[in-house]
Amino acid sequence: MILILFGPPGAGKGTQAQRLEKSHGLVQLSTGDMLRAAVTAKTENGVRAQEKMASGKLVSDDIVIGIINERIAAEDCKGGFILDGFPRTAAQAEALDEMLNEQGLKLDHVILMRVDDDALVDRVSGRFACGACGAGYHDSFKPTKVEGVCDECGATDFSRRKDDNRETVATRLTAYYADTAPVLPYYSEQGVLTQVDGMAGIDEVAAEIASVLDA
Ligand code: AP5
Ligand code: MG
Repeated sequence: MILILFGPPGAGKGTQAQRLEKSHGLVQLSTGDMLRAAVTAKTENGVRAQEKMASGKLVSDDIVIGIINERIAAEDCKGGFILDGFPRTAAQAEALDEMLNEQGLKLDHVILMRVDDDALVDRVSGRFACGACGAGYHDSFKPTKVEGVCDECGATDFSRRKDDNRETVATRLTAYYADTAPVLPYYSEQGVLTQVDGMAGIDEVAAEIASVLDA
């Protein structure tokens, strides 16, 4: 199965993708995570992307299309994958269709997670992740079971994203409404788009997504 988790910054794409990896045996392909790794490793793409990411603007299409093109051809994606944060522009959506066509693959679902703007800011500002395994948490909405210890791997190092501040979130939201949300009609015309209520709790959202995938 191939699906896109679509939604604004902080909608819960990464949270649900991590759950779907376990529940549905799919691979999470987060362009945000891949770009952050490239920035840390100071690769050519990382150096090119760094400034845009820090300010909340979109990285150029050629970089993210190249990253995804390489990634979906890898062996671990043969059993299906979740695109988290890609595509984000009309050009990326068209490039994805071409890549899937070339590989004889078909997009099954695009799931739009709808969340109010005010809630997005609260979600993003309380977010942190395990520094070892990347499991995602939130100060209020998804704290670790034991304070300071990762539920998944027991590590005690956590990190917060540099772009998770009020000002950058505003720029990320502007980019979402200007460039990303306009891609939605492309998918509704293809008959693959489903909306879920992203304002519900994490478990409820997971159940709603599972009911779409398992229907
Ligand atoms: P990216 O990393 O994709 O960031 P984003 O789209 O802004 O999305 P987030 O990761 O912030 O949110 P999420 O939806 O994953 O939410 P999460 O599950 O963590 O991109 C970062 C940057 O990289 C971009 O700004 C851009 O520069 C660049 N980039 C990436 N892809 C690109 C592309 N294709 N083209 C161009 N540039 C690109 O949840 C958020 C918090 O809320 C967590 O703490 C979580 O615990 C909590 N939470 C989740 N669900 C719920 C719930 N239902 N109720 C309560 N709390 C919840
Ligand atoms: Mg994310």
